[in-house]
Amino acid sequence: AIGSAVGLGSIWRFPYAIGDGGGLFLLIYLGAVILFGLPIFMAELAIGKKTRQGPVGAYRAIAGAGNYGKRMGIFQIITSLVIMTFYSLIGGYCIIYVFKSGVLIGAITDMNAAQNLFNDISGSFWLSFWGTFVFLAVSTVVCVVGVKGIEKLNKYLMPMLFLILFVLSINSLTLPGAAKGMQFLFSFNASNFNMHYVLTALGQACFSLSIGIGVLVLFGSYCDDMGIVKSSIIVISADTIVSLMSAVIIFPALFSFTNAGPSVGGLELAFKALPLVFSKMPCGALVAVSFFILLLVAALASAVSLIELPVAYLMDSCGWKRWKASFCIFSIILIGSIPSICSARFLKFIDYTASNWMLLACVLLLCFFLRRYWDKIGISQMIKKETGSPILAGIICFLVKFFVPAVIIVLILSNICNIF
Ligand code: PFF
Repeated sequence: AIGSAVGLGSIWRFPYAIGDGGGLFLLIYLGAVILFGLPIFMAELAIGKKTRQGPVGAYRAIAGAGNYGKRMGIFQIITSLVIMTFYSLIGGYCIIYVFKSGVLIGAITDMNAAQNLFNDISGSFWLSFWGTFVFLAVSTVVCVVGVKGIEKLNKYLMPMLFLILFVLSINSLTLPGAAKGMQFLFSFNASNFNMHYVLTALGQACFSLSIGIGVLVLFGSYCDDMGIVKSSIIVISADTIVSLMSAVIIFPALFSFTNAGPSVGGLELAFKALPLVFSKMPCGALVAVSFFILLLVAALASAVSLIELPVAYLMDSCGWKRWKASFCIFSIILIGSIPSICSARFLKFIDYTASNWMLLACVLLLCFFLRRYWDKIGISQMIKKETGSPILAGIICFLVKFFVPAVIIVLILSNICNIF
C-alpha cells in the first residue's frame, strides 16, 4: 500500500498543488488527510478485509448483483484510466530525466536553463511519446507477470527514496535564503483563505493516498494480521512525510535560487526546481540519476496498482486472460495519453478534472455505498476490536457517513454557484 500511495503524487504533484497557498494550503491539506483521507482509507481497507476480494467482487459480495456497486465500480475504473493517461506521461518524463540529468545537470545554472530543459522534453512529441510508451509498457508487463518483483524492489528501494529525500531536505534547508521558503511553507494568513485551496487539498489528498477508486479494497483483502487502523496510520504517515519532504526540498530552493518564489510554479515545478537543486550540490549528477531512478520505481508501483483495476474488471466481466486484458488497457491508455502529450494545457485540464472532480465524485459515491452497508461490512466492529475504542469507531462512522459527503456536496455547490 505504501508502494501505491508514495509516487509522483507526493513528489511531483504536491508542490504544484501547494502553488501560492503556502502554510494555509498545508494546514488545509493536513486537515484533509486526517478528517477526510484517513476514514475513507480505513473504510476501503475494511471492504477488502471483509470480503477478501478486489473491488469488483467485493462490491458484488456486499451489495449483491445490484446496480449501484457495479456503476460505482465502473466509474472508479474510468477514473483510474483517465489518471493513467497523464500519470504515464509524467512517469515518461522521469525516464527521460534519468538520462538527461546525468549529462546535463552541470549546465542547469538557473531557472531559465531548467525551464528550457523541460520545454525541450515536453515540446518534443516523439520524445514524450516514447517516454510514456516505455513507462506504460513496463507497468503493463509488471501487471501481467505479477507484482512480486516490483514488491521486492519496493521493499529495498523505498527506504532509499526516503533517505535521499531526507538528505535533499537537509541540503535545501542549508541554502542561503532558505528561511524565506520555510516561512512561506509554515506560516499563513487566514484572510487569504479561499475555496479553491480546499478543492485542491482534498483532490491532492485523494490522489496522493490512492483513495476513492478501490485500489485499497484490493490491499485490504490481503490485510490479515495487521489491522485496518494500524495499516492506515502507517501508510498515511509515510505518504504525508514524503509529501512534506518534497515541499521542504523545493520551496526553500525556489526562494534561494530565484527571486520569483512560488510564482514560477506550474505543473512542471518539480521538474524545474529539482534539477536546479542537483546542479548546485556536490555529486549532483549522481544524486540526480539515483533520485530519478528511485522516483521511477515508486511511480511504477503506483501505476501498476492503477492498471490492475481495469485489468481485473476485464478479466472478471469478459472472461479474458490477464495478458489480453492488460494489452487492451495498455492500448486504451496509450491512445488516451496523446492529447496530454501534444498539449500542456490539456494535461493541466485533465489532471485538474481527474484528480479533483472525478476522484471526489468517486469518494462521494463510495460514501453513499458505505452509508448503506456500514453495518453489513462491520467496519465499526473491526475498529472496536482492533483499538478497543468505541469512540474512535463512532468518530470514523460519523466522518464517513456525514462529514465527508457534506464537504464534497458543499464544494460542488460552491463551484456551481461560482460558475453561474
Ligand atoms: N498515490 C499515487 C501517487 O501519489 O503517485 C497515485 C495513485 C495511485 C492514485 C493509485 C490513485 C490510485 F488508485
